[in-house]
Parts: sequence; structure tokens; C-alpha cells
Amino acid sequence: MIDGGRPLEGQVAVSGSKNAALPILIATLLAPGEHRLANVPDLADTSSTLSLLGRIGCPSLTGTHVRVDTTRVAYWEAPYDVVRKMRASVLVLGPLLARCGKAVVSLPGGCAIGTRPIDQHLKGLEALGCRFRIEGGNVHGVADDLRGADVHLDMPTVTGTENILMAAVLARGTTRIHNAAREPEIVDLANFLKGLGAQIEGAGSSTLVIEGVPRLTPASRPHRIIPDRIEAGTWLCAAAVTGGDVTVTDVEPGHLEAIGAKLAEAGCEIEAAGTTVRVRRTGPLRPFQLRTLPYPGFPTDMQAQLMTVATLANGTSTLEETIFENRLLHAAELRRMGARIEERGGMAIVHGGTLSAAAVMASDLRASAALVLAGLAAPGLTEVLRIYHLDRGYEDLVGKARKLGARIGRVSDGERDHDRMLAATAAAA
Ligand code: EPU
Repeated sequence: MIDGGRPLEGQVAVSGSKNAALPILIATLLAPGEHRLANVPDLADTSSTLSLLGRIGCPSLTGTHVRVDTTRVAYWEAPYDVVRKMRASVLVLGPLLARCGKAVVSLPGGCAIGTRPIDQHLKGLEALGCRFRIEGGNVHGVADDLRGADVHLDMPTVTGTENILMAAVLARGTTRIHNAAREPEIVDLANFLKGLGAQIEGAGSSTLVIEGVPRLTPASRPHRIIPDRIEAGTWLCAAAVTGGDVTVTDVEPGHLEAIGAKLAEAGCEIEAAGTTVRVRRTGPLRPFQLRTLPYPGFPTDMQAQLMTVATLANGTSTLEETIFENRLLHAAELRRMGARIEERGGMAIVHGGTLSAAAVMASDLRASAALVLAGLAAPGLTEVLRIYHLDRGYEDLVGKARKLGARIGRVSDGERDHDRMLAATAAAA
């Protein structure tokens, strides 16, 4: 519940990256022993990953550092009840095949934003010598002898690159992954693996070269997960849509360049210094053109949030989604708040204006963020339903927004009458 229309102002510390933490937690399977990780965000998806590791036989402890003990792997399965909640569970495929020579992973189905097949993961792992069959909705994989190979990806898939990389580090000989994803999360995973003794070159470029090693061992020092560039970008958009002044701290400004450049085109002032980025909006928002692309292009995970920015601009913007086929679901909900948005295929044409408070429904993680931003901008009470999506990817979103001056609170079903909702948000301010 949000009582919107107030500028957000102040500093907000950004948590560790969800999409770096998930593969790194799973990569601990490759080196038997105790691993320590720092800056792991406290999210529903990290809890799901730790519970999946627990089911595999690897207990963990959370605290300042997350500790995972991968001394023994007792099972090699990621069942449907885990994978259907979190697609990233499919990342256990490469590590389990490399460590145990077998893996059974439920085949993820489509999700709200697209069909999201894993053919490239399987193709790359097959090139390294894995064999797969699909039975009962599960992918059954075996690998008697992993050998390095040349893998040519049809698209730079992020988790596909990660899965193949994690198998290749323990394969015999050299693997080259061509058309690899270049996201900072791939670089973080490669750095973590190097800390275990893996030999990897080219992380951050489109060709990864991996020289397999016979074994990996846990690092003596904890690995620190990189900052979450999408969380950071979402807070910067909060400044843009509310006419505020927000500084994100604990970030890597280099990872935020595409987002910062787009907000500058939209008329915001951007200032990067050290590990902080500040966004201020002093005048009206200007319309802009945006096209999602693999890194270093504009991230698909920020398209929804920028759509909210576009709804408030002084003119017509276009946003084109090229990564996922169905990632404009937030447009229909933003229309409920008065936005004027036309959709043509994967393109949204947004005629800027004003937003008005309403009850809206979140369809996925980033769509939820876009609706929260809209609620922060629109005067009056906005109710965002199904906010459990937010808990998958934003650590303490409500607490952090309150510190920036937002009137926002979580309301249970029993509290959903107007006065109680207002009280819940006001208590926050
Ligand atoms: N694709 C295939 N075949 C494959 C793999 C991918 O056709 O084998 C297609 C997908 O369907 C999609 C495109 O390739 O159209 C790119 O998908 P990609 O595989 O790169 O996405 P992902 O690895 O499943 C990760 C993030 C997503 C993020 C995308 C794109 C994690 C855990 N997830 O997903 O994050 O949107 O990369 O950057 O890293 C989010 O955090 O909200 C989120 C959805």
C-alpha cells in the first residue's frame, strides 16, 4: 500500500545482486568443503536456493556471511516443486553433472514473461559430453567423461552461459563458449570460480575460454557478491518519477551506465562518484526511446521501471522489448492508473501524462517494481496486489523506501479498508 505523490530524497544502500548470488551459491557444489560468501541478499530466491542445496545434502548457515558446506552431495535432483518456484534452480545441472556425473532437474515450463526454453543449456552441455533424456517432466543427464569443446550459443543466454561455464571448469581440456553472455553477473561467477582454482579467460567478453582442472577447492577468503544493478536502477527511477533526489550507495557505477544514460535522456541529472550514483529531477521528464538488449545494452530487467518513467514524460516514448516475448504485462496495469500506452508486438508506445492511484496486480518481479514506482508517483492510495513477487528480488524494499520518505507499508487482507490502509502507510512516514 502506497500513499504516493511525495518526492523521495536521501541515500539508499543497495544489496548484493540476486542474479549473481544464485549461480554463485550453486557453484559452491563444484568444490567440496565449506564456502563463505559475503553480501548475499536476503531474498525469497536466495532462501529457495539454500533450501535446494540443503535437499542435495549441502547444509548452510546465514548471517553476515552465508556458509555453505558442500563436503557431501547426497542427491542430484532439483524436483518440480523447487524449479516451478524458481527457474534459476536449473543452474544445478552443470555443477551436478561435473561433480556427480548425473543430475535430474525438472524441466522449467514457461513463465509470465515468456516461454524461456533451456535448449542452449542442453546443447552446450551435450557438446561437453553430457547425454540427456526427458522423462516425466524431468531432464535426466549423465556425464561419464566431460571433455572441453567449442560451444556456439544461438543467443547470449545468461544462465545458459553460467551452466556451461560451471561444467567446463572441471572438464578435460579447453572449452570455448562463443557468443557468451557478458553481464557483470557472469564476471562475478567467473571470479568466484577462479578463487576456487578454475582457469577462465575472457569473462565480460563474448568468448569465454576455460581450461579444465581436475579439482577445485573452497577459497580461504569469503567471496563478496557484486551490488545489484537492477535494485540500484529501480531506486534511481524512484527519484525520477517522484521528482526527488536519491543517491544509491555501495554500487558499481560502471554497471549502471546504460540505465543512467537513459535517465539522463529523460531529463534527470546523474552524478557518479566512487561507489555512489545520484539522480535528481529538477524539471519535467522528457520522452525517450528504449530497446532492451544483452549487456552492455539496456537491461530487460529495467524495462518495466522505465515504462513508469515514460508514463510521466512530456511527450511520447517508445520502449521495445527484444529479450522476452511477453514482458509488457505491466502496461495493462499502468493503464489502470491512467497511463496511455499502446502495444504493437513487443513495442510499447507511451504517451506521457499523469498517473492516478488505483489497485493494481503484479505479474512478475520487475512489473511489481514498476507498479510500486507508479504508486510512489501518483497522489493518493495505490494498492499493489501479489507483492510476493517483490520479495524474490528486492531486499527490504518497504524499509528502504520509508527511509527515503515514502509512505508505504505492507497490508494484510484483514486490513484492506481505506482508513486502516492509510494508517499503515502513515505509520511509515
Ligand atoms: N533462451 C532460449 N534458449 C535457452 C536460453 C535462453 O531460447 O536455452 C532465450 C530466452 O527465452 C530469452 C533469451 O534467450 O528469450 C534470453 O534469456 P536468458 O537465458 O539470458 O535469461 P535467463 O538466463 O533465463 C537471466 C536472469 C533474468 C534476466 C535475463 C536476461 C537470472 C537468474 N535470471 O535469465 O532475470 O531477465 O537473464 O538478462 O540470472 C529478473 O531478475 O527479474 C530476471 C528475470
